[in-house]
Amino acid sequence: MRTLVVFESMFGNTERVARVVADEFARLGPVTVLNVDDAPSTLDAFDFVVAGAPTHVFGLSRPQTRADAATRIEFATVTGRHGLREWLDIVSPASPDCPAATFGTRAAMPRVITGCAARAARRRLHRAGFRMVGKPGDFRVSGALGPLIDGELVRAGAWARELTDAVAAVGC
Ligand SMILES: Cc1cc2nc3c(=O)[nH]c(=O)nc-3n(C[C@H](O)[C@H](O)[C@H](O)COP(=O)(O)O)c2cc1C
Repeated sequence: MRTLVVFESMFGNTERVARVVADEFARLGPVTVLNVDDAPSTLDAFDFVVAGAPTHVFGLSRPQTRADAATRIEFATVTGRHGLREWLDIVSPASPDCPAATFGTRAAMPRVITGCAARAARRRLHRAGFRMVGKPGDFRVSGALGPLIDGELVRAGAWARELTDAVAAVGC
């Protein structure tokens, strides 16, 4: 199974989760990890798509929230050109029924207060025609910039392993 793990990340936290997720998917075949800045809009080369993003203003980032993020650090943001929201507007599955899953990062507060990028991305991928697999992966950072809360990368690995186990059992 050829997997694409595509991530948006301002400060590097969602990228760290993406790389842990990619390591788990590598059990099932080749994995390509791409910053959404560099992600293709045509997905013929992949059998499974996993997409991740930080939560901004209760959902997926917008140009204004990414500009806001950029003012909070003295180095360049990891993702700079566009966000997952914009990429999801232009991608479509390579074949009908292409499986996909989403994950996101957010502040370490109750989800009803924070919102959840993973859920927003899931709705958009579903609307674009992907077959959504598993529950959204939802991982917490401390403060606005991170780092990830202790144990969240372990949880991310476990989340991805649950997905790969399900795929290995039934195919994709
Ligand atoms: C402009 C902006 C808006 C944010 N809005 C939210 C929010 O509504 N809910 C939340 O849980 N976290 C919010 N955050 C915190 C981000 O979720 C956090 O920065 C992100 O998870 C870090 O991941 P990254 O390093 O991959 O960008 C916001 C951060 C920024 C910069």
